[in-house]
Amino acid sequence: MKNKEILVFGASGQVGRHLIRKFTKNNYKVIAVTRNIHQKGYILKTQANPGYLELRELKTFDEKKIREMMENCEACINLIGILYEKKKGHFDLIHSKFPELISKIASEKKINQFVHLSSLGIDKVENSIYALSKKKGENKIKENFNNAVLIKPSIVFSQDDKFTTKFMSLLSKLPIMPLYYNGSTKFMPIHVSDLVNIIFEIIDKNLKNMTLECVGSEIFSFKEIIEILLKSIEKKRILLPMPLPLAKLSAKFFQIFPNPLLTEDQLKLLYYDNIPTGIFKTNNDIGIPSHKKFEAEVNKYSYNWKKGGQFSKKKFVNYE
Ligand SMILES: NC(=O)c1ccc[n+]([C@@H]2O[C@H](COP(=O)([O-])OP(=O)(O)OC[C@H]3O[C@@H](n4cnc5c(N)ncnc54)[C@H](OP(=O)(O)O)[C@@H]3O)[C@@H](O)[C@H]2O)c1
Repeated sequence: MKNKEILVFGASGQVGRHLIRKFTKNNYKVIAVTRNIHQKGYILKTQANPGYLELRELKTFDEKKIREMMENCEACINLIGILYEKKKGHFDLIHSKFPELISKIASEKKINQFVHLSSLGIDKVENSIYALSKKKGENKIKENFNNAVLIKPSIVFSQDDKFTTKFMSLLSKLPIMPLYYNGSTKFMPIHVSDLVNIIFEIIDKNLKNMTLECVGSEIFSFKEIIEILLKSIEKKRILLPMPLPLAKLSAKFFQIFPNPLLTEDQLKLLYYDNIPTGIFKTNNDIGIPSHKKFEAEVNKYSYNWKKGGQFSKKKFVNYE
């Protein structure tokens, strides 16, 4: 029997890499789309056995190329997303215009399933461009593709994330950690393998037409998350609540840098809790709970930031 083909946009990211492994191990064929096949090819190629993975390059929103990519696929999964804009209008382009385009083509091509990754914690937000662009994208998809599945995860963590690893790097170097909104914003971090499992079940069981909030099994405030990370890397730091005007000023400063620690837009978003809204179903409601615990998982890879670890200030062995 021919393997089912899954087309994945944004396949080289954190979720994408884990997703390729899960699907190809379970006999699906993945067509992984990236903007730069030379730069990302080596990351993608190692995720699957030969024959189960095909790489495609898409540098612009080339409708003809997208149509060709969708020719034989059963399902399309969109994982493309950005956390900050390098140019004004990029949020709209990436989070609204691109999903609008591919969902339209997927509908024309009569693709069986369309799955899109949006975000949790954006529904009440009216002042963040990130949130507004993600919500616009969700609405455009619903207009274009009747049975689309919209997935809204809380923070996704793993040994190759941009969240726990980034904060452990900062905590291992800085003496003081600023807390925005007193560190009270709530999150339900979900391990990438649990999220990928949910996406896999949706495709494998042919589930359609839903908006699903995806969360881990524990609720933590931002301060609690920082405390767990500090405990895990065996460091003590001053956690300093930062007054909002100062937080705004620091975000203004940080966003000058190419890979900013915090932007003004993210600061606005951070005001809102990142937990289920009660409006939509969650992964628990459809019987796919998350199993991995935050602290236990972080403890598996935090050794890199402990004294003597590769990313610690004081390395035992320094090859550099
Ligand atoms: N990670 C989280 O904590 C989290 C939480 C909530 C929601 N989400 C959503 O889940 C999805 C997947 O998350 P992720 O963590 O896997 O994302 P990621 O690693 O940051 O990025 C996913 C991929 O998007 C592509 N991409 C980035 N900038 C782009 C641009 N300007 N134009 C076109 N493509 C671009 C990249 O692929 P190439 O470089 O190969 O082209 C990248 O590998 C995203 O939509 C994200 O918003 C993530």
